[in-house]
Amino acid sequence: MSYRDFVNRLRSLKMLKTNAENFHQPVLLDETLRLLQPRAGEIFVDATLGLGGHAEAILESAENITVFGIDRDAEAIGHAEKRLAKYGERVKIIHTNFSEIKEVLAEAKVENVSGILADLGVSSLQFDSAERGFSFRFDAPLDMRMNAEPETETAAELLENSSEEEIADIIYKYGEERLSRRIARRIVWKREIGEPIKTTKELAETVEKAIGRGSAKDKIHPATRTFQALRIAVNQELEILEDFIRDSIDVLKKDGRLAIITFHSLEDRIVKHTFQKLAGKCFCPPRIPKCVCGAEKIIEILTRKPVIAGDAETLENPRARSAKLRACLKIN
Ligand SMILES: C[S@@+](CC[C@H](N)C(=O)[O-])C[C@H]1O[C@@H](n2cnc3c(N)ncnc32)[C@H](O)[C@@H]1O
Repeated sequence: MSYRDFVNRLRSLKMLKTNAENFHQPVLLDETLRLLQPRAGEIFVDATLGLGGHAEAILESAENITVFGIDRDAEAIGHAEKRLAKYGERVKIIHTNFSEIKEVLAEAKVENVSGILADLGVSSLQFDSAERGFSFRFDAPLDMRMNAEPETETAAELLENSSEEEIADIIYKYGEERLSRRIARRIVWKREIGEPIKTTKELAETVEKAIGRGSAKDKIHPATRTFQALRIAVNQELEILEDFIRDSIDVLKKDGRLAIITFHSLEDRIVKHTFQKLAGKCFCPPRIPKCVCGAEKIIEILTRKPVIAGDAETLENPRARSAKLRACLKIN
């Protein structure tokens, strides 16, 4: 029996919790605290507050810690506010994009931040809410916005308003899907015959019709990569990441720490390379006489390899399986 079959078997026997029951379980919690090293009286930023699990653990880890919690999702903010209400003035919750971290801290006149955490991607709350349209496990309007403001484009609108080439590029780049052109062709064909894709089920079926079910060995649904790609595009998840890391280092005090948890290789690559650049690695092409990429050493990388979850955690919380944690220390 494979490891995955074993876990599914335990789950079917109700010996393990399901995803929904894992709703609030923060991933790599002990490892994150070990790297952030919270101490009494310090100020932290949780840039992806979600349901407040990591924030609560930081607040509990030493006396009198203050946490600024940021999230772009109003529903998540509501849950976190309730969960963290008992900490009173020690918690400040801000509904915004973490790309605004500098403005948030400037407005609060805070200059001595000791640690920043970003636990990227979607929360279980978002993924398991049928009506948010993140998952093909439920039939719902194809939305996928983390910040469900009327002015932001839904995934259905993105598919309606983009050219075939643009759709193919999104699915290829953000989903690492080899068969992106076939999928884009079918999506646009549906539009042309007057049946634009409006729901998660329609998208999942369209992808399956375009590229087939895959072989029995394929462990994931054929639409998984397309869904990931659209989510990343709708929420512009990758565009802001490098700037966010640079801004975080700017606002940290000397010896402050930044920890980032990612859930797919595209994000992890950006974190790894940005950390390397800030740690002084030169990315100029070979044979250039003088460095022009602006490499300067302002951080020390604390995780030579990404920290990943152990068997016990992945068994308890399947979301942890793809989590990678990297951290660094500001030295200048
Ligand atoms: C994986 S969850 C965080 C879970 C949290 N650590 C906990 O313990 O409950 C990620 C959260 O980050 C938020 N998020 C993702 N990108 C964001 C961004 N650019 N700015 C602010 N929040 C963001 C999502 O809305 C989601 O609530």
